[in-house]
Amino acid sequence: MARPHIEPFCDRDTHFKPMRLLGFGTGMHYKMLSMDVDTGACSMTVQFDGGYKRSPGFSWSEYELIVIEGELKVGDRVCRKGHYFYVPAGYAMPEISSDQGCLLLYMYNTGEPSHEEASTHHASTQTQLYHDVDSYMDLSWAMGNVAKPSVATGCMIKLLNYNPNSFAMTFLYCMTPNFYQDNISYHDCAEESYHLWGTSWMMQFGDVPTGGYFWRPAYINHGAFASEYGCIALGRVDSKLFNHFHYNPWSTPVENADRSEARLLARDPLLYHWAFSQDHNHPHSPKDFELTMPRRANEEGHDTEHKSDGHRHDHWHGHHHHDEESPHAHDHSHDHTHDHTHDHQH
Ligand SMILES: [Fe+2]
Repeated sequence: MARPHIEPFCDRDTHFKPMRLLGFGTGMHYKMLSMDVDTGACSMTVQFDGGYKRSPGFSWSEYELIVIEGELKVGDRVCRKGHYFYVPAGYAMPEISSDQGCLLLYMYNTGEPSHEEASTHHASTQTQLYHDVDSYMDLSWAMGNVAKPSVATGCMIKLLNYNPNSFAMTFLYCMTPNFYQDNISYHDCAEESYHLWGTSWMMQFGDVPTGGYFWRPAYINHGAFASEYGCIALGRVDSKLFNHFHYNPWSTPVENADRSEARLLARDPLLYHWAFSQDHNHPHSPKDFELTMPRRANEEGHDTEHKSDGHRHDHWHGHHHHDEESPHAHDHSHDHTHDHTHDHQH
């Protein structure tokens, strides 16, 4: 989800464009809020004209959707403002339509918008991940302190989607009237928000009104915050949300990232040292043992050693000669350091 920093931005300042991608029909209009130009993943404000209809079918990308205003018909169900959908890639939805027209927030997460006519799910779809809810009527507000250190009281959330592998979240959040928080935040994740209603204010970017939007990469300062009359917004983070708070309005994203690294060292020193001592030219990224561990029992004399993922893992075993040359491991004179450093580059 490598998207550029978009902030401040308000969709009311731009016009709708007709959606012309195949499969979407006519009567669908969009305002592009942010886009990953590598993958086509994007967030859009979408308007369906009265009478709009789309045939049953699926998208090649996972997407999320919330009704902002008006009524969306999904099959025979009428879904009103606040109705949220999480739709896995390949999940066939029934016909969707809108009699009187409606305004929606669409988020395509893994690829460009697409619609493939189909009445059954794609064979590879993780159908169990699908869920939808009327988030305004059928969920209650929870305190915003699910993430600690915590936002100030008066900022509350409704969790809409949670990815247990990446800790990415989609949630509604609201600020009560006269909410304020006087410190400055940054996170180790990208953060996205669309203001469904109301205005909040930030020291760096000013007012975020109804229709206000940001896509904010990690480590960018935001806050202090305030909201005079309150607001409700849809928020997302693309990995674990940790609130790094401080009171230095001049710190840069690099300094903020350095601070996060220092805090990782203070909190998880062994993990930190392990992560930063991978000096043996290992061709792959760090391994999660749960993803590669054997899942089969001993097969009575057959070679089970290398069957866990179908190919040998010889590279796990040949590291000792590298250890001798490691810049971190050798304690003799530093005469050879530069040569060794080059040795490790190939
Ligand atoms: Fe934030």
